[in-house]
Amino acid sequence: MMKRVLIGLGIFIAACSPDEVVVVDGDLTNIPYQPVDYVIPQPAGFPSMAQPSDNIATEAGVELGHFLFFDPILSRDSTQSCSSCHLPELGFTDGKKVSTGITGAQGFRSSMSLVNIGYVNSGLFWDGRSPHLEAQAFLPIEDPTEMDNTWAAVEESLRNHPTYPEMFRKAFGINDKSEITSDLATKALAQYERSLVSANSKYDEVLASGDFGVFSDEELDGYFMFFDIEGSGLPDAQCFHCHSGAYMSVNDFFNNGLEALGDLTNVTDIGLGDVTGVFTDRGKFRATTLRNIELTGPYMHDGRIETLEEVVDFYNDSIHPALNLDVNLFEGVDLNASQRASLVAFMKTLTDTSYLANPHFLSPFN
Ligand code: HEC
Ligand code: HEC
Repeated sequence: MMKRVLIGLGIFIAACSPDEVVVVDGDLTNIPYQPVDYVIPQPAGFPSMAQPSDNIATEAGVELGHFLFFDPILSRDSTQSCSSCHLPELGFTDGKKVSTGITGAQGFRSSMSLVNIGYVNSGLFWDGRSPHLEAQAFLPIEDPTEMDNTWAAVEESLRNHPTYPEMFRKAFGINDKSEITSDLATKALAQYERSLVSANSKYDEVLASGDFGVFSDEELDGYFMFFDIEGSGLPDAQCFHCHSGAYMSVNDFFNNGLEALGDLTNVTDIGLGDVTGVFTDRGKFRATTLRNIELTGPYMHDGRIETLEEVVDFYNDSIHPALNLDVNLFEGVDLNASQRASLVAFMKTLTDTSYLANPHFLSPFN
């Protein structure tokens, strides 16, 4: 049976058993429930953002999710919030090779950007193991290398909180604070995450105006190579096969040759293969969006590469063969030093820090 706790105000309670207390003042029905749809922006050329029919974003739901995302109350010792590993100023990553949880335990993967996260439609995480944001948000709370809490404890602290019961009422129309559940908390988090849309980079300026003069010469050279534009006189860098469209990701999984995986029998981080059970998926990871890539290093699923210059050096010199190495990387990439610098310059045109001026992307507690 669910353990309920009182909020302290007035009216009294009957104890059924020593550790079980029944709420009599959790009634929220005097607070109006008037949901208003939240309009999620849809930048041109992005994949369409699907919202689950049972969790369409509302103003109050997004606001609740905003608070939950930045609230350390979700972690066992109240020291870590989602935003501890997803910092707005770092494109919602943490700047670390791999993340560290409240106990100091390290995970084995690198944090991922959440700007435009609602457009990932091929499975979340580097290996695609989580089908949607509602399901994903269940996991960090109880992960021993992350927030190391239990959902039962989180539900209890939210029910006993001075302001969350009212916010849950406004977001989901619950009648009593005892109806605050992990299910609703994750729905609110997912709504907030879907609202994190921003596409105001230099590259967007070019896409919107069609004016390539916005780019410097170096950036334009990088653009030509990134997209293998014919007739530019520059070598093909092959990048666009996996990182393309306005969203800068094809939302699919590949082996991009980080390691010599040979016949795939000996793979340390199995990635997608662990999720699908398909042998030739071993060592494949999602080709993430390159939007804001300047802000989200270190790079790759395990943060093995420090800088963008080194990422380009890797594609240029160090692609490793494997049974399932993507065919677009068979021939390798062959750029000289100034061409490699141009490719980096182009990637930096994908930086969009405009959202940092918008309180919606920052902690609501400040
Ligand atoms: C201790 C650091 C840490 C905390 C705390 C944390 N995350 Fe993460 N997050 C990560 C790491 C690391 C990954 C990548 C893990 C993987 O691929 O296995 C990730 C991945 C994600 C993804 C998938 C992104 C993508 O592109 O597929 C989402 C969404 C996400 N986190 C949301 C959240 C939310 C919501 C919370 C709070 C409830 C949270 N995270 C708390 C470290 C953290
Ligand atoms: C065959 C598909 C493919 C091609 C072609 C490709 N990439 Fe990638 N890229 C990936 C995959 C898959 C990952 C994630 C790999 C991992 O972490 O194991 C990735 C990761 C990256 C990352 C790090 C992303 C992050 O969030 O840490 C950068 C930067 C990057 N690629 C840039 C490039 C550039 C520049 C090119 C062209 C020179 C290129 N890619 C070509 C598939 C590809």
